Amino acid sequence: MRRPIIAGNWKMNNTAAAGVALVNELKPLVADAECDVVVCVPFTDIPAVSEALKGSNIALGAQNVHFAEKGAYTGEISADMLKEYGVKYVIIGHSERRQYFGETNETVNKRMHAALAAGLIPIVCVGESLEERETGKTEQVLSVQIEEGLKGLEDVSSIVIAYEPVWAIGTGKTATAEQANETIGFIRKKCGEVFCPKCAEKVRIQYGGSMNAKNCKELMAMPEIDGGLIGGASLKAQDFSQIVHYNK
Ligand code: PGA
Repeated sequence: MRRPIIAGNWKMNNTAAAGVALVNELKPLVADAECDVVVCVPFTDIPAVSEALKGSNIALGAQNVHFAEKGAYTGEISADMLKEYGVKYVIIGHSERRQYFGETNETVNKRMHAALAAGLIPIVCVGESLEERETGKTEQVLSVQIEEGLKGLEDVSSIVIAYEPVWAIGTGKTATAEQANETIGFIRKKCGEVFCPKCAEKVRIQYGGSMNAKNCKELMAMPEIDGGLIGGASLKAQDFSQIVHYNK
């Protein structure tokens, strides 16, 4: 059985003080969670939020990591720098990074390996654009993202995959539960072909894109969907807690 994982992606929201206030509100609300709970926060929030999460069942995540151990990479953050503060997960290749910051399958791959080498758990994002879906290219795009982005993985279940159709992110348009389930099923099948079928059965694949307190139950009831990567709805403790308790 795959343990569900609900992760918040705060994106560029919350100063450290606001982040601490949010997790302090969230901690008692999700203390009884039956799934893994993660908050992926801005770099500058990490030290304070890490401190605030001590002793709780909420794990800390970052939103990016550089692939080099150290060196002349102005503005970047290494895996060791994240580890120092108890970061456990790191989002890699979010569509906003691919769209606005030139992230490619190749850089996603390098970042993923650097994260794994340092003992972080990568949450690697994949997903198609609206045009790609409408022109029937979804499976082709996802296949390339898996083949190139995840290249060289010994065990695909050492990472978490987030399937985020770009057209559903921040738009209020959710993929239907059936659409999300079918596409995640395809991703799992593809992982079975590229890696090994056994690891593909074990890898946790989240859905992301306008997941909220209302639609989470239906999405999470789908057999292929093992969790959610939540943007907007992770910024309010009550909403995020309701998603964590999707089966209640
Ligand atoms: P959203 O963002 O929930 O606001 O659509 C999801 C994501 O981008 O991870």
